[in-house]
Amino acid sequence: RSSSEDQVDPFSLVADELSVVANRLRAMVVAEVPKLASAAEYFFKMGVEGKRFRPTVILLMATTLNVQISKPASEGVVDMFSTELRLRQQSIAETTEMIHVASLLHDDVLDDVDTRRGIGSLNYVMGNKLAVLAGDFLLSRACITLASLKNTEVVSLIATAVEHLVTGETMQMSTLAEQRTSMDYYLQKTYYKTASLISNSCKSIALLTGQTAEVAMLAYEYGKNLGLAFQLIDDVLDFTGTSSSLGKGALSDIHHGIITAPILYAMEEFPELRTVVDRGLEDPANVNLVSHGPIKFIKSNRLSPLSKGSLIQALEYLGKSHGIQRTRELAAKHASLASAAIDSLPENDDEDVQRSRRALIELTHRVINRTK
Ligand code: FPP
Ligand code: FPP
Ligand code: MG
Ligand code: MG
Repeated sequence: RSSSEDQVDPFSLVADELSVVANRLRAMVVAEVPKLASAAEYFFKMGVEGKRFRPTVILLMATTLNVQISKPASEGVVDMFSTELRLRQQSIAETTEMIHVASLLHDDVLDDVDTRRGIGSLNYVMGNKLAVLAGDFLLSRACITLASLKNTEVVSLIATAVEHLVTGETMQMSTLAEQRTSMDYYLQKTYYKTASLISNSCKSIALLTGQTAEVAMLAYEYGKNLGLAFQLIDDVLDFTGTSSSLGKGALSDIHHGIITAPILYAMEEFPELRTVVDRGLEDPANVNLVSHGPIKFIKSNRLSPLSKGSLIQALEYLGKSHGIQRTRELAAKHASLASAAIDSLPENDDEDVQRSRRALIELTHRVINRTK
């Protein structure tokens, strides 16, 4: 049996390189002031590095897009060229992971949570102020790494992804029922919050590799659809998973007033559900209003959650609807679009290239079949 039929585990394929990236990340986040240093390095320590999906996808994409160098004039020159390119591609993995962790530090302040990756969140351990500053610090270190690549198009793509994180997070705070119960609004927000960073990183890899605009677009499409599939399944698991399997509270979205795809689909099937949800969201008893003279301000950034009664009713409608099933179907559609993007890449019979392409396709299956 040929090696091209071997099963590939995407994560073990890049395991060694991931630890090189992890070591470099630890070196990059060292700060001058001890307090900032210990805050910045917090989530880069061994054992709390998270799932590292982004660097995994980025490194696999880097191999996938390697161009075959025709008949080397001198082996040495080619080696130097490919080593230098690989370092530049790794810099994208590092930049992306620093931006991701920066956004998690800020997110935990906004969400006011006390745990992340199985340990105390930074805001909980060192306070909101230091958590915000550490996030800013990581963002600036990410900029330095990015600038070292001297590629303004790549800088622009990654900066746009950061803008999208902020936009998505702000969209999620919307208090307008009309927006919070719109499928289009939800999908746009999901792209900004979850898919933009990975898709623009994948595109950046293509540009650094010197690929054509067509190939760069396929890399982007892969990242975008993988990210969307990932988030749709996340939103299903929030309803179907148990807290112990997820490592976080089940039903946490709806408890926080965040309406996701399963409920949005159920609302299409049972228009009465829209009334329940709208009423729940707009119930003045649920909105934290504080009076300042003639104008009323919403006091906290917490959205109004559904009241207990509305929540139970909403879950009943969801149960008799096809909301969960339709969300899974949409996720599967995006997963197969991601897979199709890889299949559309120009042919390349290099063994490493083929193996990494199979790994990227394997990831699309894992995303939709995961249970935690
Ligand atoms: C999870 O990391 C990842 C995302 C929210 C979006 C990106 C998803 C992918 C690149 C595809 C995922 C691939 C598989 C095999 C499921 P996180 O936000 O949960 O944070 P972490 O860094 O703490 O793990
Ligand atoms: C996790 O979402 C949060 C994000 C994917 C992005 C958060 C973005 C910001 C706070 C904007 C600031 C960005 C930067 C780069 C400093 P979640 O709360 O739904 O998921 P969780 O369960 O992982 O907390
Ligand atoms: Mg959060
Ligand atoms: Mg959040």
